[in-house]
Amino acid sequence: MAIQFDLSKKIFKLDTCTTSYVIGLSPEGYVGHIYYGPRLNFMCTNSLLRMEERPYTPSVNRREKCSFLDFFPMEYPTGGIGDYRESCLDVRSENGSMACEIFYQHHTIQKGKPALNGLPASFGAENEVETLEIFCEDPVLKLQVVLSYSVFVQEDIITRNVKILNQGTGRLRLEKVYSACLDMDNEEFEMLYLCGSWARENHLRRGKVRRGRQRISSNKGESGHQEHPFLALVTPETTQTTGKVYGMHFVYSGNFLAQAEQTQFGQVRMVMGINPEEFCWNLEPGCEFQAPEAVLVYSNEGLGKMTRSLHDFYRSHMIRSKYLYQKRPILINNWEATYFDFDTEKLLSIAREAQKDGIEMLVMDDGWFGKRNCDDSSLGDWYVNEEKLPQGLPDLVNKVREIGLEFGIWFEPEMISPDSGLYRAHPDWVIRIPGREPGQSRAQYVLDLSRPEVRDYAYESVARILRSAPISYLKWDMNRQLCDMGSSYLAADAQQELFHRYVLGVYEMQERLVTEFPDLLLENCSSGGGRFDPGMLYYSPQIWCSDDTDAMERLRIQEGAAMLYPLSSIGAHISDCPNHVTGRTTPFATRGHVALAGTFGYELDITRIPKEDRCQIPGQVETCRRYQHLIRTGDYYRIASWSEAAPYDCWEVAAKDRREALVTYVQVLAVPNIHSRKVLLQGLAPEKRYILEETGEVYTGEELIYCGFLIKELYGDCQSRLYHFVAAKE
Ligand code: GLA
Repeated sequence: MAIQFDLSKKIFKLDTCTTSYVIGLSPEGYVGHIYYGPRLNFMCTNSLLRMEERPYTPSVNRREKCSFLDFFPMEYPTGGIGDYRESCLDVRSENGSMACEIFYQHHTIQKGKPALNGLPASFGAENEVETLEIFCEDPVLKLQVVLSYSVFVQEDIITRNVKILNQGTGRLRLEKVYSACLDMDNEEFEMLYLCGSWARENHLRRGKVRRGRQRISSNKGESGHQEHPFLALVTPETTQTTGKVYGMHFVYSGNFLAQAEQTQFGQVRMVMGINPEEFCWNLEPGCEFQAPEAVLVYSNEGLGKMTRSLHDFYRSHMIRSKYLYQKRPILINNWEATYFDFDTEKLLSIAREAQKDGIEMLVMDDGWFGKRNCDDSSLGDWYVNEEKLPQGLPDLVNKVREIGLEFGIWFEPEMISPDSGLYRAHPDWVIRIPGREPGQSRAQYVLDLSRPEVRDYAYESVARILRSAPISYLKWDMNRQLCDMGSSYLAADAQQELFHRYVLGVYEMQERLVTEFPDLLLENCSSGGGRFDPGMLYYSPQIWCSDDTDAMERLRIQEGAAMLYPLSSIGAHISDCPNHVTGRTTPFATRGHVALAGTFGYELDITRIPKEDRCQIPGQVETCRRYQHLIRTGDYYRIASWSEAAPYDCWEVAAKDRREALVTYVQVLAVPNIHSRKVLLQGLAPEKRYILEETGEVYTGEELIYCGFLIKELYGDCQSRLYHFVAAKE
């Protein structure tokens, strides 16, 4: 039983393999947070709710709200009633006041996990997950708040979500609805998060939690390149293998906020949810609002354990695509090869050469439709450009398939160019504020996805093309952030729903897509990793990680992504040098080793790259085939981090049965007079003997784990090696 309720103590205990989460009810019916940490074997008391403590104003303890609510550890704090820390729910009633106070009513415990209406969310079979729903009520507002906790025992994950129902007779306005809160004592916590920009996504940052509120967020309409919807609080000694880690990851692809707040009493409140900036939701009588899911993870063995919990969880309980555990085709994409300058013959010449080297799919990127010869027109006009593809798309697809490759295509369905037939026909389909010229970005506007007919048009544009030819793969791109938020479809007092409705629109379209085309391999993208989040993983098993394909930049970007996401979801390609974004030249082999820690593919003009690079491709393809199963299913270990100032980067993927491990070592800068580097491997069986495939040398597991493995200094910058260890047959 993963979830227990002790009626006499009024305590819920949620257990995963190695963690426990404890919730207690106060005599008033407040739902309090007692504990999250290493697994407890016995039910605890509710003393940590601090109900016996003297109030902080000098008086007797009369349980006056105003003297204890501000330090009561709340599961889901509401605004306006005297808890002055960050609230999770702010409700404005028809009389204009803002206050909400919720009390426990009843609860249910069930096997399995209900789906979330209109939103991506984790799933699991009845023997994999149990769900607790705590029903609370504000008796004045007649508002029901359902706090849901799903316990994924094996993966050490607890997910939370919240549903709000208006059971009264008046309209309520939800001004803030977060998805999760953790009230804890401060343990000198540091915040760990990912941030960046276009072409440098997911850089790791860490800093002390100071007094007051420190947040990361997006107000850009997507989760964003800039800050990632993930926050961890870690104790100062935390490394890959030591320290306590409390992580929260948000299953949402729009505006978010994640915050740590250190209070007057030295407590810490951590919250995660939809960014309340420019958010408000009208909740009519009888209606409900479903907040997105938050994923909670605790590790007392450092970051590595958190990473492996999340990887297992996303693989088993978030990614639905049939490609999850299937061999993915090795693709070649023509974006960096040709940009907009291509035609049928050029694409076929790439396909012919790619086929010779074992590449399995050609992806035609941007520029195949309308009159799009650069990025200033035609989004929305999803008709083949007959100058480039005179015989049409089915003809091209069939020819590519005759060559022996599958075919993939690029779309940007959420967008509309001012210079497009679509815009001329439907200027009102654009997100804009009346009387104000909407801002352009990359010469494009954003479609108003709150309008059902716009979603239908955008979806049908994609589906019509997919129905017209045997297309195996779709890259769904989204290349600008949102502003000038106005919709001619929504009433004046519903304009603040637009950001969220936009995200719901994206989800609805992708749901239709994966339902109608279950065999399609979908890759999401947003100018690289601008919408790389768990929400998108629910629809696509892989996401393009960054427009920066420079192998050295990718070390940081992929290290950040791989801290949270399985390698099989991280879009990574080998491109030509000098790299188009950085101008840097790196060895072709190193580019291959780095791309191997992701989906692996090519993004270059194979008909023109230097001979010495070209002749490495068959070997790289072979290497990818040999190790893809391990990368898809194995346990990931970060051994050394260049981004954290080590002179080299090193990671390892070990098979779950510990029979093999692949170690990748990248020497970023050569250092003179250093002869070798010692790395300590992980995830091996100490008692097993391992053969290093490249040399035949034999090591015991314990030697590799505790004494280490010596990697000889390589000659030159940006050099790399793979080491494959295989358990000897005993
Ligand atoms: C975005 C993507 C690129 C490419 C271009 C095409 O930037 O991230 O991979 O598809 O759009 O315009």
